[in-house]
Amino acid sequence: MSAAIIDGKAAAAILRARIAEAASDLRGRLGITPGLAVVLVGDNPASQVYVRSKAKQTVEAGMRSFEHKLAAETTQEELLALVDRLNADEAVDGILVQLPLPAQIDAGLVLERIDPAKDVDGFHPINAGRLAAGAPGLVPCTPLGCLLLLKQLRPDLAGLEAVVIGRSNIVGKPMAALLTAESCTVTIAHSRTRDLPGVCRRADILVAAVGRPGLVTAEWVKPGAIVIDVGINRVSAPELGEGKTRIVGDVDFDSAAAVAGAITPVPGGVGPMTIACLLANTVTAACLRRGLPKPAL
Ligand code: GUN
Repeated sequence: MSAAIIDGKAAAAILRARIAEAASDLRGRLGITPGLAVVLVGDNPASQVYVRSKAKQTVEAGMRSFEHKLAAETTQEELLALVDRLNADEAVDGILVQLPLPAQIDAGLVLERIDPAKDVDGFHPINAGRLAAGAPGLVPCTPLGCLLLLKQLRPDLAGLEAVVIGRSNIVGKPMAALLTAESCTVTIAHSRTRDLPGVCRRADILVAAVGRPGLVTAEWVKPGAIVIDVGINRVSAPELGEGKTRIVGDVDFDSAAAVAGAITPVPGGVGPMTIACLLANTVTAACLRRGLPKPAL
């Protein structure tokens, strides 16, 4: 292996400490305690784990956490009514409705109902539009975390070739917008891209966000490239015992690490940065909503 391993766990711990400092400063100087409301509908086990983790880290950063757990049968009207209450609640600076939502609820409708000033996921069309236009707004947490890891490694990304595999609204598209704003030359690749390995081999920065375990191998990686693996895929792991599973990324780590210059592991790479960026967005929202300057984190 030749690649440097990008330690997302350590970077997230440093970011969380800065957030805690900013929150403490807001409380000390202005009596403001940023608050994050997380809404979980139903009992998706992975979502339950994420939501618990978000609430714990919010409190550890010195902020207020409001958890709303609703039954799987909750109607769209009930969820919209809760969003309306959270929009009007002065103690709430950030609102996150955990996805996926049950089939009877139109997720797009719910996300559009969230006050864009409290949209710490950055999924509201207003914030997506601001990002596309290069205007200030709230940016989706996972791509923001990827960008922070990249900039920690290389503060100036201008002129680099970046390839993002995946065109989701949650990761691929906002990631491409952030890299464009950093003056990278950006390609969004996806399942219909011709010669995907060849396109990826052009990349100085390769971001994989498709949910296909081990898709990216050494042959896809330009020597010395920075590889960011956003994938979180649960696969069976009989080597750990019968019925056991483990989490792997979209990149075949051992193979790609032999060629890349730097690479994020899974777990311990992008994952920890996502929740840290959610906390950062909550502090940012608490400031911008009140006309205060955006804190430097
Ligand atoms: N489900 C999986 N990831 C996310 C996320 O970043 N935000 C929300 N709201 N739901 C998710």
